[in-house]
Amino acid sequence: MIDLRRLADRATLEEIRAAMDEYAVLVFRDQPFANDEQLAFAQRFDGALHTKTGAAVVGRNRFGNEALTDISNVDEGGAIFSPGDRRRMYALGNRLWHTDASFEDPPGRYSMLSAKVVPEVSADTEFADLRAAYDALDGGTRATLEGLRAHHSIAYSRMTLGFEFSAEERERLPGAVHPVVRTNPRTGRRSLYLASHASRIVDWPVPEGRLLLRELMEHATQPQFVYRHAWRAGDLVIWDNLATMHRGRPFDDTRHRRELRRVTTLDVSPAA
Ligand SMILES: [Fe+2]
Repeated sequence: MIDLRRLADRATLEEIRAAMDEYAVLVFRDQPFANDEQLAFAQRFDGALHTKTGAAVVGRNRFGNEALTDISNVDEGGAIFSPGDRRRMYALGNRLWHTDASFEDPPGRYSMLSAKVVPEVSADTEFADLRAAYDALDGGTRATLEGLRAHHSIAYSRMTLGFEFSAEERERLPGAVHPVVRTNPRTGRRSLYLASHASRIVDWPVPEGRLLLRELMEHATQPQFVYRHAWRAGDLVIWDNLATMHRGRPFDDTRHRRELRRVTTLDVSPAA
């Protein structure tokens, strides 16, 4: 069985990239990463790491490294967040369909999520294949999308849930503009690029753009495009943010501990 902690040969790493290009989500069982091993693997696999994935605005990173995102419902002392904790409110936004760091430029490319503590109740993650969703669009819609760009903002997506940011926090989260359709440079395959962070279509009236974005989100998250992952401790799941959306499914997070750690690479030109 493959041990990603020790995997360093270029040919195998490129095989994983080729598999990512084909499947967009890969599940590796029994990969007990330490934090530094997870960071090192992500760099060996895909180069530069993303350090601006949003949460820094609402609290200190408990690992002291902004490249390691805490996808957990516990505080620095290991206690489960109380229901009204602001960090919990912020994290609940991960239950909206999204791509990681689409509100930054460059955005996130691959995310690697390592499961440490998984509750007995189901606390799954769903992934939607935005390449299949693009392929299933009719020709008229594809023509409409040609050349369109969307503005992505985490302040926007969190505000749709009623989360409030201070003026200073909003200033630190200006958002970013990205094309609505992206092409994988290695395969030539096209994909929608969507997220609940998408706040408007550039140069369109805001309501019209939001309606189009909603329509596309509904289309792209139909069951035939979705894979649901049931976590086991030790899983490492890698997904391509440029080809998928994902969301955490609801569970009683005020009673059950759930701890995962995520590293996301930057969408800059690949090293190889
Ligand atoms: Fe995410």
